[in-house]
Amino acid sequence: MKAVLRRLRAGAGAGSRPCISLAPPSERRMPSRLPAGHRRYGLDVITLRSSGGKFAAMSVSQAEFRKALGSFATGITVITLDSDGEVHGMTANAFASVSLDPMLVLVCVDQKARTHAHLHSKKRFGVNVLAEDHRKISEYYARPARAHDRAAEEAGAQFDRTRHGTPVLHGALAYLECRLHSAQDAGDHTIFIAEVEEVVVREGKPLLFFGSQYRKIGEGV
Ligand SMILES: Cc1cc2nc3c(=O)[nH]c(=O)nc-3n(C[C@H](O)[C@H](O)[C@H](O)COP(=O)(O)O)c2cc1C
Repeated sequence: MKAVLRRLRAGAGAGSRPCISLAPPSERRMPSRLPAGHRRYGLDVITLRSSGGKFAAMSVSQAEFRKALGSFATGITVITLDSDGEVHGMTANAFASVSLDPMLVLVCVDQKARTHAHLHSKKRFGVNVLAEDHRKISEYYARPARAHDRAAEEAGAQFDRTRHGTPVLHGALAYLECRLHSAQDAGDHTIFIAEVEEVVVREGKPLLFFGSQYRKIGEGV
């Protein structure tokens, strides 16, 4: 049985690190009885960490968590709002649709980000879906604690304003005008759920994020 179990990632499980061990598919013959500390998980066998003689649920390091989520390809948005007449933006890919009726979306924002306080106070924001030539704009609005007064010069970002005063990025693939519906703290982030009041959609290709890298869209499958 031990020969069948392999470390999923080198180093995982060493010392105090917990681990998940999966057998390669060709070797997944499930024995009728598993040794202590192993559990069936579909066709796989997972190894549980022993803690004080009891087998505890596995924990995951932040690096492993980031790597796992990095394998989930996303588009990229810039969340925009008005801040005393200035455009404030924040690059965000933790964005998702929530409900069709009413039309709700969500964005998860770090509680340390300046945008977090702005969203709570303004209760209105724009979601700008970036196009494939917007990498510099994504990078610009991902920089922490900087004034955003050189967006045009440094990133080529130009904005219009909606009738609510929310900044709309020129050339965005889509723009959603959002009014805050509710906010739910979740760990070190807050999930902001918002009602979509208006949308603008444009033809074009998206900027993608996968494996911590910017990408362009490929061919259909
Ligand atoms: C591709 C990418 C996606 C990001 N997505 C998010 C996100 O969904 N939520 C978040 O809080 N920060 C996200 N960030 C980090 C913020 O953009 C970054 O912390 C920014 O400096 C916050 O700006 P602020 O302090 O002005 O609000 C992302 C960064 C990158 C590069």
